[in-house]
Amino acid sequence: MKIAIACDHGGYQLKEEVKAYLLDREIEVLDLGTDSESSVDYPEYGFKCGEAVANGDADKGIVICGTGIGISIAANKVKGVRCSLCTDVTMAKLTRQHNDSNVLAMGARTTGVVTALDIVDAWLETEFEGGRHQRRVDLLNNY
Ligand code: RB5
Repeated sequence: MKIAIACDHGGYQLKEEVKAYLLDREIEVLDLGTDSESSVDYPEYGFKCGEAVANGDADKGIVICGTGIGISIAANKVKGVRCSLCTDVTMAKLTRQHNDSNVLAMGARTTGVVTALDIVDAWLETEFEGGRHQRRVDLLNNY
């Protein structure tokens, strides 16, 4: 599995933690930046990660900004992306089961590192349930 990961300056530290965590688990990472805490514009990074998932350069994506809100809005502008802002493990599991989420968003200023890594685990390990949820995901995809 290849995971694209992107962040703004507010998410940089957590992005580095998540990236190291994935690499430790021998998961391939496509790091789309940013690469420091110098101020950048989160939409650019949300779009990049969303596009990487939508065009097949990565299987899934993870985006991080200060709150996770701005960068999730940006990623969700890309057709085919279902980006979910998660603040706990329950949300991570449910958005995989029900929404077939393909991009995870987190907020570095609102979610601690240990919780964030638990969210990543849950989100990566949980399968989409299909069934009635497939029809709803189709509605999203066809909009
Ligand atoms: C950057 O200061 C901040 O606005 C950004 O990281 C994010 O929280 C936006 O939603």
